[in-house]
Amino acid sequence: MDQDIERTLFHEQTILSRLDELAAQITLDYADRELTVIAVLNGSIFFMADLLRRIQRPLSLDCISVSSYHGGTESSGTVTFDQTSLPEVNGRHVLILDDILDTGRTLHAICARLNAEAHPASVRICVLLRKNKQRDEEMEADYSGFDISDEFVVGYGLDYQERYRNLPYIGVLKREIFTA
Ligand code: IMP
Ligand code: MG
Repeated sequence: MDQDIERTLFHEQTILSRLDELAAQITLDYADRELTVIAVLNGSIFFMADLLRRIQRPLSLDCISVSSYHGGTESSGTVTFDQTSLPEVNGRHVLILDDILDTGRTLHAICARLNAEAHPASVRICVLLRKNKQRDEEMEADYSGFDISDEFVVGYGLDYQERYRNLPYIGVLKREIFTA
């Protein structure tokens, strides 16, 4: 897999050090409220595992699965939910975890559905990566690991056609891989 990567953006240790900081902040911010985490699979799987083990507060965890990419490198524009119902979060303080904030459509759709179908006490967004670009939907993250430029990245949960999720670091995929 390494030979398909043009350059490394964040080494594993860099990611984990940043997660120490994010988790410390979340631990502080939720000192007086119990946290309900909703992780968006599959991209946030390693992020979820490494971040949540660093949060020193009780929390409950639900996962949902959505897709908007359908295999390419450009968002398809429609967000499909794989579950018919969302987790029960009435009155809960929800923190949504996702791998990357790109066009904003996925998180926008999740927040819209959550607010329409449940009555959470609060909703915050935590992403590992935030792409520096104009978003299609107005959406900001409350917590973000790293800002990156508008390039297609893989690793540490992020995929191209379901591959590269298990790379321990985050890197830019060679153009020839997705233009071939
Ligand atoms: P959105 O465009 O903000 O809705 O992001 C949708 C999803 O696209 C993210 O949760 C990722 O799964 C995927 N995605 C966006 N940018 C990248 C990337 O650079 N690499 C891999 N997946 C990405
Ligand atoms: Mg994906």
